[in-house]
Amino acid sequence: MDGNERAAFAVTVLSLFPEMFPGPLGCSLAGKALADGAWSLETVDIRLFARDKHRTVDDAPFGGGAGMVMRPDVVDAAIEASRPADQGADQGEDKPLIYLTPRGRVLDQGRARELARGRGVTVLCGRFEGVDQRVLDRRRVEEVSIGDFVLSGGEPAAIVLIDAVVRLLPGVVGSARSLEEESFERGLLEYPHYTRPRVWEGEEVPEELVSGHHARVRAWRLERAEAATRDRRPDLWARYRAGIVKKEGLDDEHH
Ligand code: ADE
Repeated sequence: MDGNERAAFAVTVLSLFPEMFPGPLGCSLAGKALADGAWSLETVDIRLFARDKHRTVDDAPFGGGAGMVMRPDVVDAAIEASRPADQGADQGEDKPLIYLTPRGRVLDQGRARELARGRGVTVLCGRFEGVDQRVLDRRRVEEVSIGDFVLSGGEPAAIVLIDAVVRLLPGVVGSARSLEEESFERGLLEYPHYTRPRVWEGEEVPEELVSGHHARVRAWRLERAEAATRDRRPDLWARYRAGIVKKEGLDDEHH
């Protein structure tokens, strides 16, 4: 590898269902990048680290309640086996260990961008009610959620996280501009898109977009991006407004 080449972004997935990978990550953009060597994928079957002849990976929760909890000894052995030889008890900042759980901090574009700047990520997928907290604490695991809803396991969430990160790797998405203009990059939802035909079932494309005036197009897009954000995402809108006030020293009456 010469100085300009970047080592493949290394993804390791720990799961009881390794056959779910690459799944959708083997198709389209992520799949092409995987085939091209922009990123690599290794799966670790957690069940192989069970110690008894029944290959038990879970047990009833202390304190009672529904569901089963993944055992710390089994999960820890799987983590240990997947740990790069040159690293200590935690996996290091450039290849963090992430556990997908609805209890985690919600993933956003900023965290995806940070992860894409690193060397890779190790992703732990839980099934059942979750993983024994002691192993998460011992391994200094970062707990990440993909939203306020509950999936039947961490695997689909892992696929979402990996997709969000891989597409940000250098060269994976064709033009840097298409990344810059998309939702969240400026703290706004994206403006709506239109293509041919110019009139479809009596509906016209907005006049500004066919005006040929770049400044008008830009102004229209910004206005529509702001309107969508204000209507749909008051949380993002408040942050965006606060950013404008800080950057330009404008008061709250502006806009
Ligand atoms: N596992 C189950 N639900 C999840 C969610 N919303 N985010 C991440 N991991 C999960």
